[in-house]
Amino acid sequence: MISEPLTLRSVLDTRRGEGRSVGVVPTMGALHAGHLSLIRRAAADCDTVAVSIYVNPLQFGTNDDLAAYPRDLPADCDRAEAAGAEVVFAPGEEQMWPEPPLTTVRVATLSEQLEGRSRVGHFDGVATIVAKLLALCGPSRAYFGEKDFQQLAVVRRMAVDLSLPVEIVGCPIVRDPDGLALSSRNAYLSVQERQVAPHLYWALLAGRRVVEDERSTDPARVEAAMAGVLAASPAFVVDYVAVVDPIDLSLPTRLGGEVRLLAAARLGRARLIDNIPATVAVGGAR
Ligand code: PAJ
Repeated sequence: MISEPLTLRSVLDTRRGEGRSVGVVPTMGALHAGHLSLIRRAAADCDTVAVSIYVNPLQFGTNDDLAAYPRDLPADCDRAEAAGAEVVFAPGEEQMWPEPPLTTVRVATLSEQLEGRSRVGHFDGVATIVAKLLALCGPSRAYFGEKDFQQLAVVRRMAVDLSLPVEIVGCPIVRDPDGLALSSRNAYLSVQERQVAPHLYWALLAGRRVVEDERSTDPARVEAAMAGVLAASPAFVVDYVAVVDPIDLSLPTRLGGEVRLLAAARLGRARLIDNIPATVAVGGAR
């Protein structure tokens, strides 16, 4: 395990000097099978995989769960290495920022909608730390989960805008058998809440049926189907349901081609997010 940024850079420089490709998987720890799927994918693609474990205060709002965020570094190191990580980078606060940063990376528009509405500044914190991690590691590829679909879109756009010499690789969502997307925050759910939590996924599936089976091109009908499923479980406090363009996350007035269905809701102490793709049938609009 490495905690000094300059040690990390020199280890990865050495690997590159040996002709090895470097992949990086940024995480905040509390590693579960979703994280491990990213590490395995990176290990399949790259010669050397670095996993960062850093609970990034910049992306937590004042009402967020920074202090309560689950942390278990020794277990995370074992899991990351078993999944194929050669290097685990886990800096402390002073190591990451010897001086508090004066620089913010902001991906405008993409960061302000959906998650950004209820988590103001969140994606600035994500973009800033990811830019720093990419600068430290210099990977040829960096791996992110589709679970945080807006985050993936923000990071992709940042890499394009800043001409970062890295390929951003999106990886599929890993779910529990009942459909709930794995998340460190699922640990906040009570036994009863855990039972209703998969309804968030069911809501997305209901939306997809409207797109793919009913062949509707009307986003309002899709959103109503999703909202209807969530309304049937009063424990959910819905933040948003939306049908968006998968690249720029814009809200189409009429659906066509590939779209992404997104939902976010509070359930007890946890705020859950999930998303799935859907394809609008060609020429089949009703
Ligand atoms: P964290 O929540 O720890 O997630 C690290 C990576 O794992 C992210 O790319 C996330 O999308 C992915 N991931 C989480 N749950 C997943 C699941 N069920 N299936 C597939 N992938 C999953 O996301 C962050 O950390 C931070 O914002 C970070 C990018 C590290 C910047 O601080």
